[in-house]
Amino acid sequence: MLNRKHLLGIEDLSRDEILEILDTADSLQEVSTRPIKKVPTLRGKTIINLFFEASTRTRTSFEIAAKRLSADVVNVSQSTSSVSKGETLIDTAKTLDAMAADCVVIRHFASGAPHTLAKLTKASIINAGDGAHEHPTQALLDAFTIRQRKGRLNDLRVAIIGDIAHSRVARSNLHLLTKFGAHVWLCSTPTLMPASVEKIICENRQFIHLTNSMEEAVHGADVIMMLRIQFERMNESFFPTEREYFRYFGLDRERVEQAKPDVIIMHPGPMNRGVEIATDVADGPYSVILDQVSAGVGVRMAILYLLLGA
Ligand code: CP
Repeated sequence: MLNRKHLLGIEDLSRDEILEILDTADSLQEVSTRPIKKVPTLRGKTIINLFFEASTRTRTSFEIAAKRLSADVVNVSQSTSSVSKGETLIDTAKTLDAMAADCVVIRHFASGAPHTLAKLTKASIINAGDGAHEHPTQALLDAFTIRQRKGRLNDLRVAIIGDIAHSRVARSNLHLLTKFGAHVWLCSTPTLMPASVEKIICENRQFIHLTNSMEEAVHGADVIMMLRIQFERMNESFFPTEREYFRYFGLDRERVEQAKPDVIIMHPGPMNRGVEIATDVADGPYSVILDQVSAGVGVRMAILYLLLGA
């Protein structure tokens, strides 16, 4: 089991803990292929999905993962809860805690919201994405997918391209991949490459490379991870037009050909087709985007099991 109560970010996870999660996910993936996709491991446990931002993949896969482990699951969203009447996050969390929840999976627009809850509640807290800070379960399912396809996490050239400034996925992946010695090329427009990226990278400087050239980023890449332009977090213009963005930073077939012949194309979703990625690349032979979604169930089963199963 993991020797921790909460999963708040990749930054404070050790390599051994990450490998424990990935190895456990390897075993639990098999449950999803059975005619009856259920094991009794978490029978009697109550898990609350508390989502203050929209989600398809993360919320649904946490619910499926919990149900496959026989836990009871309750979904709470901002629009249908008393948050819409002005109740604070802390009062909401204390209320759910008073109902003896064993685990709260939280997505929140504010960086650090899960960390605040972890100090106040008896339940285990899992970060399902906090502001532009971290999305640890996404990075774990990405690592699972990369390891499945490439057989390793070290000695890889990974290009992470797009809206780095607003991306919690980029931050979590950067922490995870560099812990294992992968070389990460971060590529974006100068306006979407935050100055704060320097702070994240200071520990593993030798593994991180910054560029504004898509050609440089994809050249010889083993993995290309495209990021969504997060229009909902932008209140100013970061590039002239979507068409121009695609011309310089969009992934099309020509650019895929600059990578290694066995490159894999990843995207955490949801995608803006024609903005950061061409449709024929998203649906093409190198794409593992739907494999990432499938991995999400096994990896989230592993996390719930390792945090609550003891
Ligand atoms: N990748 C991801 O977090 O997707 P959702 O917003 O659909 O959960």
